[in-house]
Amino acid sequence: MFGRKSHISCSVRCPQRIFRNALGFSAETAGATVSAFDFLAGLFHNRQMPQLPFITFEGSEGSGKSTQADRLAARLQRCGIPYILTREPGGTPIGETIRELLQFAPDNSDMTSETELLLFEASRSQLVREIIKPALARGMCVVADRFFDSTTVYQGAARKLDRQIIERLNAFAVGDCIPDISFVLDIEAATAQSRMQREARKADRMEQQPEEFYERVREGYRELATNELKRIVLIDGARDADEIEREIWEKLRSRFSSLAKASDV
Ligand code: TMP
Repeated sequence: MFGRKSHISCSVRCPQRIFRNALGFSAETAGATVSAFDFLAGLFHNRQMPQLPFITFEGSEGSGKSTQADRLAARLQRCGIPYILTREPGGTPIGETIRELLQFAPDNSDMTSETELLLFEASRSQLVREIIKPALARGMCVVADRFFDSTTVYQGAARKLDRQIIERLNAFAVGDCIPDISFVLDIEAATAQSRMQREARKADRMEQQPEEFYERVREGYRELATNELKRIVLIDGARDADEIEREIWEKLRSRFSSLAKASDV
């Protein structure tokens, strides 16, 4: 069904990354890539491809969500399924500038929780309109490393900002662009912390919170999963990454007919 020749792959985690696809287009800017998309995805659309899902990955830092988002993207690529991989905050030139401001900009330790909330929403609203909606409209699968559940949990449950305001801002930022399925990688806060300490990298502003903050993040995700049983799948993130990857792929294949027929090579 998804012939290798007509495969498109793309990553918009970092807008400066070179975009690739099997027909040989290559562009270094997001704008130029979209025109290559237009041409190729038009081909897909004309062939009446079944709708591919919008999939999000959520969880605390160190939960393994980015690893699983990357693994799923790699699998889609092997299967010849057109997809894009995004991240939040970020995923567009504007969003990546906001990410830098949120995480590493000098003097950002004075940032208020309200400013932080609005910056996450600003990054998201750009990503939805510039990348996610156009990709879905062209029949591509979208894999997102974080989306609006992160705001509900981090700014709502952990920072304790007003839940109703967050709900309204989330709705304003995404409009009708709701994920078809969201995987929450659930892991004890202490295990996540020790995984992160093993990584040799500079901690960003968001990673310098007290332990209780991460406890609230975990609880926030678990509560959300209980309230949204249809969309959210809670995954035990303490297990081996291969096992988790298999569980996620099986879940996707059982839920989406457009993925059920995909064959990995
Ligand atoms: P990560 O993508 O490497 O996990 O880093 C993103 C950080 O931003 C992480 O600490 C979670 C935080 N975050 C929020 O607090 N709210 C949000 O809405 C999003 C998207 C991320």
